[in-house]
Amino acid sequence: SDSDPLQDFCVGDLKGSPSINGFPCKPAVSASDFFYSGLSGPLNTTNANGIAVSPANVLTFPGLNTLGLSMNNVEFAPGGVNPPHSHPRATEAGVVIEGSVFVGFLTTNNTLFSKVIHAGEMFVVPRGLVHFQWNVGKGKARLITAFNSQLPGSAVLPNSLFGSNPTIPNAVLTKTFRTDDVTVNKLKSKFAV
Ligand code: GLV
Ligand code: MN
Repeated sequence: SDSDPLQDFCVGDLKGSPSINGFPCKPAVSASDFFYSGLSGPLNTTNANGIAVSPANVLTFPGLNTLGLSMNNVEFAPGGVNPPHSHPRATEAGVVIEGSVFVGFLTTNNTLFSKVIHAGEMFVVPRGLVHFQWNVGKGKARLITAFNSQLPGSAVLPNSLFGSNPTIPNAVLTKTFRTDDVTVNKLKSKFAV
């Protein structure tokens, strides 16, 4: 959903200041500007969520500047969860490369649409909606995802709510979650940055 380009390409000059339509164009380009090897993995998934994401967006692959798309490599340890998050600037499509993954998104009316999908199967998440994935297979799992933005952005709900800097006042979070300071402080301690 990025704006349409007005030239064949505009490889991003990341040293330039980004404007509303991305980065300024690099004056001299070569073939290597249009290729990227960073989606191959394997990634280290030894962390609390049991997942790792490697993005091919305009910041890692500046050849995508003004072209309106990007991709991620998402790898899961057994049981790994890509926590609920949303992309404010893009619809997401994904394909399972390896394993079995429970994929779900939520409408703005809080209906959950979900399914377990396997290698070769695809899903879509409408722009901006909250979604997550969970590796339900016995082994590792891997997804390749694609976005109709060069920089879709990702608001990860638990981090936004409990790991912000500065933090959201406890009065807001205890009322929001109908709970107490002990619970809120415990969650904040898990997501502190
Ligand atoms: C998966 O949801 C991703 O954002 O790559
Ligand atoms: Mn996503």
